[in-house]
Amino acid sequence: MAAKFEPKLIGFLCNWCSYAGADLAGVSRYQYPANLRIVRVMCSGRMEPSLILEMFIQGADGVLIGGCHPGDCHYLEGNYQAERKVKMTKKLVKRAGLEPERLRLEWISAAEGERFAETIRDFTKQLKEMGPSPVSGDAPDIDKLMVLFAAKNAAKDFRLKLLVSRELGLVEEGNVYDEKIPQKEMDDLLESAIGYEMARCSIIFSIRDKALSVEELSERLDLPTDKVLQHIVTLRDRGLVILDRIEEDTPLYLAQEEGIK
Ligand code: FES
Repeated sequence: MAAKFEPKLIGFLCNWCSYAGADLAGVSRYQYPANLRIVRVMCSGRMEPSLILEMFIQGADGVLIGGCHPGDCHYLEGNYQAERKVKMTKKLVKRAGLEPERLRLEWISAAEGERFAETIRDFTKQLKEMGPSPVSGDAPDIDKLMVLFAAKNAAKDFRLKLLVSRELGLVEEGNVYDEKIPQKEMDDLLESAIGYEMARCSIIFSIRDKALSVEELSERLDLPTDKVLQHIVTLRDRGLVILDRIEEDTPLYLAQEEGIK
């Protein structure tokens, strides 16, 4: 008989609220499943999207970020930043073919031990219903895993980080010309920036060991050749891809070490 699926759940909890809430759940003896492994962080805003994606690469079935309620962050705006980062990470998780619901952000105060226990019960139940992550276990889906690697690298791109860190200010306070950017426009901008970075990271992954032509990349990644060429030009400018050689008039490109970290 197949073993019952027990999801692997990792929780990054902020020191000042959610971690203390988990502590209270423990001392109050509120019951919750033992599927959770906790990592204490100083603030939910410190969570890096690339680290969250690494958790999925390492086989987590679900990731929980716990922070102080809005307005209660000990570093003032950390939880608002966490909200933006989680929103972007969900988009990357989705592009990698995983359900974005595998990532949750919850506000849990130090006084909410019961709420903490209920959150873990509910998240574990939801993950059991969803089944194992396609990239966890002994036979992970390699294609999805590769896209997840590309997503993790895309999340480290400083342009994306800049966009996410400035999003709140640009939408609510405006730019240097006092122009507020509508949320919808900001979402579209973020979506297209993610698309560009994911495509570039996928190109880098495809040519990490073997040089390929633009046509071969286009076929492999299902992208138009002109778009692939555009990305190759950008990646060469950034020093992440080189022209390896020319075979029968066809240039073949290879990724550089720095692009594959
Ligand atoms: Fe708790 Fe910032 S200190 S979210």
